Amino acid sequence: MGILDEDVRRVRDETDIIRIVTEHTQLKKTGAQWMGLCPFHGEKSPSFSVNAEKGVYYCFGCQVSGDVIDFVREVDGMDFAGSVEFLAAKAGIPLRYTDQNEGRRKNRRKEHAEILQKAVDFYQERLLTDSDARPARDYLRSRGYDGEVARRFSMGWAPDDWSQLARHLKLSDTELQATGLGGINRRGGQYDFFRARILFPIFDAQGNPVGFGGRKLPDAEGPKYKNTSDAAEYYSKSNVLYGLHWAKAEAGRTDELVVCEGYTDVIGCHLAGIERAVATCGTALTPNHARLMGRFAKRVILAFDADGAGQAAAERVYGWEEEFGLRFAVAALPPGSDPGDLAKSDPNGLRAAIEMARPFLEFRVDRVLERGDLDSAEGRAATATEAMILVSEHPDAIVRDQYAMRIADRCLVGVDEVRRRGKTVASGRGDRVTVVPTSGTAVSAGSATPTCEEEALRLLVHRPGEVQTLLAPVLFDDLVCRAAYSVLVATVDLHDARAQADRPVAELLARLAVADASDDDPLGVLTRLCSLAAERAVIALEAEARLTGDLSAYQPSIAYLRTEVIRLREVVREGSSLEPLLRWLVEHLGGRIGS
Ligand code: UTP
Ligand code: MN
Repeated sequence: MGILDEDVRRVRDETDIIRIVTEHTQLKKTGAQWMGLCPFHGEKSPSFSVNAEKGVYYCFGCQVSGDVIDFVREVDGMDFAGSVEFLAAKAGIPLRYTDQNEGRRKNRRKEHAEILQKAVDFYQERLLTDSDARPARDYLRSRGYDGEVARRFSMGWAPDDWSQLARHLKLSDTELQATGLGGINRRGGQYDFFRARILFPIFDAQGNPVGFGGRKLPDAEGPKYKNTSDAAEYYSKSNVLYGLHWAKAEAGRTDELVVCEGYTDVIGCHLAGIERAVATCGTALTPNHARLMGRFAKRVILAFDADGAGQAAAERVYGWEEEFGLRFAVAALPPGSDPGDLAKSDPNGLRAAIEMARPFLEFRVDRVLERGDLDSAEGRAATATEAMILVSEHPDAIVRDQYAMRIADRCLVGVDEVRRRGKTVASGRGDRVTVVPTSGTAVSAGSATPTCEEEALRLLVHRPGEVQTLLAPVLFDDLVCRAAYSVLVATVDLHDARAQADRPVAELLARLAVADASDDDPLGVLTRLCSLAAERAVIALEAEARLTGDLSAYQPSIAYLRTEVIRLREVVREGSSLEPLLRWLVEHLGGRIGS
C-alpha cells in the first residue's frame, strides 16, 4: 500500500510537531520540553510533554507516545497513510507511492472532497443570503438555530431549482454523479440531487465533506430527509457518522461518544454543551460504525428514544463490546423525546440523562424491574424471570452473576434460584449448553445432561402411562419445559404437539422424542421434580414472609414443605407417596402459574 519510505521520512523531518500538537492543546516551554494538557485523556494539570527536537511526545498521565504521524493518527483517527498524506499536504510535500494507481486514487479522492467543499460553500451562501431561503431561515430560527449556528454546522439551503448547483460548479457529468451532487436527465442535461431542502453537510472523521442530509421544510412534499445516495463514490451510510470530526476532541478527552439518531440531535447536543455527539445517517448502527467509534472512544452512550435503545440488538452490542473493546451505555431520555427536542426544551435534563447513562444491560434490567409488579409474589417471580432472560444474553459469567444478585435482591428471590433460572433460560434457548467432551468420543451439543424437568418430559413422551398422573405445570419452573408439558397434555400426539408449539418448545420436543427413555427411572425423576418444586416454594414463601413481616402466617407452610423435602431424600417406593405434596403444591401454587 505504500507511500515511499523516503517521503514518509521527509514528512516527519519537515513537520513541526509543536505546531501540529498546538492545534489540539496549548503547550508551554519548560527547559527542553514543551508541556500541556493531554489531548488523549482528561486532566487538570499538564502531563503531556513534547520534545520538538526529537519529534516525539509522551504523556506521563496516560502513557501515550509517538511521533507526529502517530499523533495525527491518534487525534484524528486516521490510518498511517492518511496521516502522512495530511501532514504532507500541510508541508507542501508531494508524495510518491509504491503503486501508481494508489496515487491516482488518492488524488481523485482529494478532488472529490474539494468539489464537495465548494458545494457546501455554495449551499451555505444560499442559506445565509438568498431571498428565497427566507422560509428556511425562519424555520431554522424557530428551532433556535440562528446564523451563527448555521455557520458553525455549515448548514445550507438547496434552492428550489433544477440545476442551480450544477450550473454553478460546472462539473463533468462523471464528477457530478460520482460526488452524489447530481445526475443526468434523459435529454442529457445535468440536474441537482438536492432541491428545496435544508442541508446538513456530512464530513468524514478528518473534516472532509462526503455528503449531505437534506431536510424538507415542514409543509413541503416528499420524505422528511433525503440523504446522499450510497451510489456516490466516497459516501456510504454504513461507514459514516455525522458530527464525528466535531466530536473527536471531546471524545478524546472523555473517552466517550454519544450516539444519536439524527442530525438535529447532534446539533442540539452541541448547543447544550455536549460536544461528543454523533449520529448515524438514516440507518441503524453497523459494525463499521462501532469499529469507527472505537478509534476515538471506548464508551459509547446510546441517546436514542428509550425504546429504541433498550431494544438495540443485544447480541450485536455484546459482540461489538468484545470485538472493538467498547462499552455501551444507554441514556434514559423521557419517552417520546429525542436529544434534539430536549436540547431546546430542557437542556439540563438532556445533560443529566447523558451524565447518568447506565451500562447497556443495567438499563435493560432496570427497565424490567421498574415496570414489573413487585407487590405480589407472582409478579416478583415473573419479573425476575423476565430480567434473567436479558441477563442470560450477556457473555460474561461474572457480569451475569452480578445482575443475578441485584435481581434476587429486588425481587426477594433466593439468588441461587435466580442463577438457576438464568441457566435454564439460556439452555432452553439452546445457547451456552455446556458440553463436556468425554475422553476420545465426540459429543454433540444435544447430549448435554438433561435437566430433571427434561427427563420428566422425556418420560411423558415415551412412557406417558407411568408418569402422567403425577405431573402438573407447577412442577416445571423452566418456561420452555412448562410450555412443553402443557402442549403435550393438551394434544393427541407428538406431531400435533409440535405443530402447536412455539419454536423453542417444538425443538425441545423433537430432542426428547429422539432420546432413549428405556433406562429412565420414573419414580426417581418424579421425586426429584417434586422436591425441587417444594424448595422453590419455600424460597418464595420466605420472601413473601419477609416482605409482609408476617412470618407466623407462613410458618406452617414453610415447615410442612421443609419436612417433605427431607422425607423425599429417603427412597420413595410408591408414586402415591408423592401425591399429598403434589396436591399441596397444585392447591397453593398452581393458580399462580395458570394451571
Ligand atoms: P427523525 O425523524 O428523528 O428526524 O429521524 P430528526 O433528525 O429528529 O429531525 P428533526 O429534528 O425532526 O428535524 C432521524 C434520522 O433518520 C434519518 C435522518 O438521518 C434523520 O436525521 N431519516 C429520517 C431519513 O434518512 N429519512 C427520513 O425520511 C427520516
Ligand atoms: Mn427528531
